[in-house]
Amino acid sequence: MPKTPKKIVEKLQQLLAHSYSPYSGFAVAAVVKSRSGRLYGGVNVENAAYPLSRCAEQSATLQMVSAGEREIAEVWVMSRGNQPATPCGGCRQVLSEFAQPNVPVHCLSADGPELHTTLGELLPHAFNRQYLDRPGKK
Ligand code: THU
Repeated sequence: MPKTPKKIVEKLQQLLAHSYSPYSGFAVAAVVKSRSGRLYGGVNVENAAYPLSRCAEQSATLQMVSAGEREIAEVWVMSRGNQPATPCGGCRQVLSEFAQPNVPVHCLSADGPELHTTLGELLPHAFNRQYLDRPGKK
């Protein structure tokens, strides 16, 4: 697996410092690259009403969609510590709305170790819009 581009690592590190995670103390940053090649960043934004907190991958995806883009080509996630955290189940589902199963997902830890996988490996048999279009729908 090729080394993560320096530009991406630096962007993730900068984003990580902007995480708003006073309740968990667990900062997460994410970058999604769209089909056009543009990079969109996001961080986790927590809330005193805990369920209203948002994950970093979702923040980044919302930025991309708000800019008018609809296709994710690659994903990077960074958290602190020596073990890379993978996107939670909800984030896998949100990413899958805009990313094909073969889209690479790179999970980085600020201290070094990386895990390189794909969305299809993280979320096999994803629920998607095809289920909503099937014959017999009322
Ligand atoms: N978090 C993310 O931002 N992305 C994930 O995929 C996993 C969890 C955040 C949510 C919460 O702010 C903190 O990490 C602890 O769960």
